[in-house]
Amino acid sequence: MMNRLLLAALIVGSVGLAGAAQAADAAAGKAKATSCGMCHGQSGEGTQMGTKLAGEDPAKFIQAMNDYKSGKRDNAMMKTQATQLSADDYANLAAYYASLK
Ligand code: HEC
Repeated sequence: MMNRLLLAALIVGSVGLAGAAQAADAAAGKAKATSCGMCHGQSGEGTQMGTKLAGEDPAKFIQAMNDYKSGKRDNAMMKTQATQLSADDYANLAAYYASLK
């Protein structure tokens, strides 16, 4: 009986964790990042065409994407990227790039 309760608590706990992970999923971000590599480097290291993204603070990253989408930050290349992606994509991409060095 005790074990069963414990198991139930563990299951509820891990579902909660999975829910949180879904909000910012680095693996999903990686899958979306293929088109970013051309300018930002395959590992976010940056190229002459785009800034370094590896290790960038997720809040800053998401803010930048929102600003490109709204036009507050004016960059034609990034506006195209930002409008093709959802808010979930931003969070996932931010988590992915933050995980890189
Ligand atoms: C065609 C080239 C190009 C592609 C493709 C591209 N970017 Fe960019 N990105 C840039 C350039 C150039 C800047 C700097 C623009 C500026 O001055 O604000 C930039 C800036 C950014 C910034 C802001 C960084 C900061 O803090 O200043 C983020 C975040 C970003 N890109 C994310 C992405 C993501 C995510 C993708 C793929 C979905 C992507 N970019 C694809 C060229 C590109």
